[in-house]
Amino acid sequence: MVQQLSRKKEEISVTETSTIQQQGQTGSSTTIYNPEDAVLERYQEGARQHQESLCCPTEYEGNYLEILPQEIIEKDYGCGDPTRYVNVGETVVDLGSGAGKNCYILAQKVGVKGRVIGVDFNDEMLALARKYRSEIGAKIGHENVSFVKGKIQDLKLDLDRAQAWLQANPVDSIEAWGAFEVVRDRLRQEEPLITDNSVDVVISNCVLNLVRPQDKKQLFQELYRVLKRGGRVVISDIVCDENPTPEMIADPELWSGCLSGAFREDAFLKMFEEAGFHGIEILVRQSEPWQTIDGIEFRSMTVRAYKGKEGACWERNQAVVYKGPWRQVCDDDGHILRRGDRVAVCDKTFQIMTNPNSPYSKDIISISPYEEIALEQAKKFDCNRSSLRNPRETKGLDYRVTETDDSESGCNTESCC
Ligand SMILES: C[S@@+](CC[C@H](N)C(=O)[O-])C[C@H]1O[C@@H](n2cnc3c(N)ncnc32)[C@H](O)[C@@H]1O
Repeated sequence: MVQQLSRKKEEISVTETSTIQQQGQTGSSTTIYNPEDAVLERYQEGARQHQESLCCPTEYEGNYLEILPQEIIEKDYGCGDPTRYVNVGETVVDLGSGAGKNCYILAQKVGVKGRVIGVDFNDEMLALARKYRSEIGAKIGHENVSFVKGKIQDLKLDLDRAQAWLQANPVDSIEAWGAFEVVRDRLRQEEPLITDNSVDVVISNCVLNLVRPQDKKQLFQELYRVLKRGGRVVISDIVCDENPTPEMIADPELWSGCLSGAFREDAFLKMFEEAGFHGIEILVRQSEPWQTIDGIEFRSMTVRAYKGKEGACWERNQAVVYKGPWRQVCDDDGHILRRGDRVAVCDKTFQIMTNPNSPYSKDIISISPYEEIALEQAKKFDCNRSSLRNPRETKGLDYRVTETDDSESGCNTESCC
C-alpha cells in the first residue's frame, strides 16, 4: 500500500490549496498530493479487502452485531462506538459510513419509526454497504437505512446526481465548467442531499480527521446545519496530544491512516464551540494511545455536543441553581453559575439547562415562579439586570403564607425533623 500510494505522488511545479506539499522540495518543483485522493484510494482497497492497519480496537454493544454479515463486521475502520448514544425513533446521519456497520447497528436501535442515512463518497464502500440492505432489513423486520453519495463537508450536494450530469455533459472547457457550477448550485439549493434542520443525531466514526484541512471548518458548519434544534452530534475520532509534524502531514499513508489529519484534543472541542454547539462533552477518551509517532500520542475520543442555543431571550421569572461540586461553572453563552446561587435566566437558557435530556440537568436545580408567565405575555429578558433572582420574584411580592409544623410532638415521620 505504501508503494502504491507513493507512486501516485506527482512531481509538479504548482501548489494549490486543495493539496498538501511534500517535504523535501527541490528547486521550484514541489511534490504535492491531494489528501482526498489518498483517502479514496485507501478505503476503496479497504472495501475490497480487510485492512488490519486501519483498525483501532473498538467494542460495540454485542447483541446488535449478532445479525450482521461477517464481511460488514470485519470491514470496520471505526475507532469508537457513537451508536450507544442514540435512542429509539431518532433520525440519524452517519458521516463516512464505510461498510455500514454503524448504520446497521443504528437500524436496530432506532427501530421502525427511526431512520438512518449513511453518507460516503466512495463508490466501493457504498456498494458494499448497500449489498446487505434487504438481507438485514428482512432480519430486523424493517428497512430504515439508506446509503447516499456525498462529501461530508458538503452535505447539500448529491454526488450521484452531480455525477449523472457530468456523464451526460463532460467538462472540457471553462464554459462547460461554468455550466456545471450552475447545476451544482441548483442541486444544492433545490435537491439537497441532507436538508436543513432535519436530523436528530449526527454520528461519525473515525472520519472527520480525513477531511482536508481547508474544509474542516465547513464540515462542522454542515453538522450544525443539518441538525434540528435540540439535536446532537456524537463523534468518535482520532485525536492527538500535540500537532502532527509537517513531515507527517506530508505523508499520504499517515493521512489516510487516520493519523496526520487528527485533531489536537483541545482544538477538536474548540471546533464544536466555534460552529455554535453547546454542552460539548468528552464521553470517552482512550487511556492508552492507539499509536505513538515521534512521541506524539494518537488515541480515540468520543465527543457529544448539542445544537439550539440561538434565538430570543424571554423573561419568565425562572432561575437555576448550580449544585456543585465546582465553585463556579460557565456555559457556552457565558452565563456564570456560582455554586448555590439562584441565578436569573431567560426561558431559553432555563429550558436548555433543566430539560431532563440536557447535558446540564443533573447538576442543576430548576426554580420556576409560583405564578407562571405565559410565553406570549413574556417581556424581553433584561441582560442588564442583576444576575441573581430574588426569591420574591419567584414567589410574588404579595406572597405572605405562613405554614408551620403543628403536630403535637413537633416531629412525625413525614416532617423534616
Ligand atoms: C476510517 S473509515 C470509517 C468507516 C466507518 N465509519 C467505520 O466505522 O467503519 C472512513 C470512511 O469515510 C469515508 N470518507 C472519508 N472522507 C470522506 C469525505 N470527505 N466525505 C465522505 N466520505 C468520506 C471513506 O470512504 C471511508 O469509507
